[in-house]
Amino acid sequence: MASGARQAIGVFDSGVGGLTVLGACLDALPQEDFVYFGDTGFFPYGDKDPAVVRSRTLAIGRWVAAQGAKLVVVACNTATAVALPDLQRELDAPVIGVIRPEVHAAVRATRNRRIGVLATEATTRSGAYPRMIHAHDAGVSVTGVACPDLATVVQNGEPLGDRVAGIVAGCAAPLVAAGVDTVILGCTHFPAVAPLLRAELPGVTLIEGRAEMAQEVAGTLHRRHAARAAGRRGTRRYACSGDTAAFRVLAERILGVPIAAVEAVDPGAAGSGGGGGPLGG
Ligand code: DGL
Repeated sequence: MASGARQAIGVFDSGVGGLTVLGACLDALPQEDFVYFGDTGFFPYGDKDPAVVRSRTLAIGRWVAAQGAKLVVVACNTATAVALPDLQRELDAPVIGVIRPEVHAAVRATRNRRIGVLATEATTRSGAYPRMIHAHDAGVSVTGVACPDLATVVQNGEPLGDRVAGIVAGCAAPLVAAGVDTVILGCTHFPAVAPLLRAELPGVTLIEGRAEMAQEVAGTLHRRHAARAAGRRGTRRYACSGDTAAFRVLAERILGVPIAAVEAVDPGAAGSGGGGGPLGG
C-alpha cells in the first residue's frame, strides 16, 4: 500500500484491555482515524508460549497494516514483551509498544528506586521490564509480580466485588513487602482495577501507561509529519476474533461511548496463509 493511502492508527490487544490505551488516544487525538482489534477469541496471551503469541501477533500486525495503518500501537504488554522487535522488522509502518513509555515514567517517578511491576505470567517471565528499567538505571530494584487471574476478571467484565478485591490484594502484597514507591500496571487490562490497587497501595505512584502511550503516539505522528490537522472528527472501527456482542458491551463500558458496529475478523496464524478474512457473521 502506498504510504499516502495509510491514514489510520491501528491499535491491538489480546482483548479489551487495549481499549484503555485507545481511550486515552481518542481523547488526545480526536481528529485521527483509529482501527482497534481485540483478539478475544484467542485470549489470554499471558499463559501462552511466547512463540505462539509471536506468531499470532504477527498475523494481527499484518491485518492491522492491511487496513491502512500509518502507525501500529501494540496495546498489550505481553505482545510487546515477546514480539515487538519481530513486529517492527515485519511491518512497514512504525510500531510502538507499551513498555518503554511506562518504564520512562516509572524511572522518573521513583524516589526510593524501588519499582514494582504487575503483569501477566508471560510478561514477567520475559524479563522485559527489569531489562528496560536497568537500561535506564541499573541501581533500581525491581519486584515483578505475575497476576494470572487479573486480566481474566477484567476481560470477563466481572464486577469489582470481594472476589476481585481479594485477587488484587494478593497481587499487591509482595509489592507492599518490598517497599516499592512506584508500581507499573504492566498489563493493559489492569487500569480497570486501579481503584482497588490504589486502596492496597496507599502513597504509591501507579503508572497506568495509557496517558504515556497517548503522548508517545502523538509524538511519533508529529516527528514523522503524519499527524492530521485538528478540526475534523476521525473515524473509529472495532473488530475482534471472538463474540462481537460481548466485545461491544465491554468496549462501550470501558470507552464510555456508544459503538455502532464490531466486525468479526480472524487474522489467522502467521504463516498459515489462511487468515486475514472476516469471519462472516
Ligand atoms: N492485555 C494483555 C497485556 O497487556 C494481557 C491479557 C492477556 O493475558 O492476554 O498483557
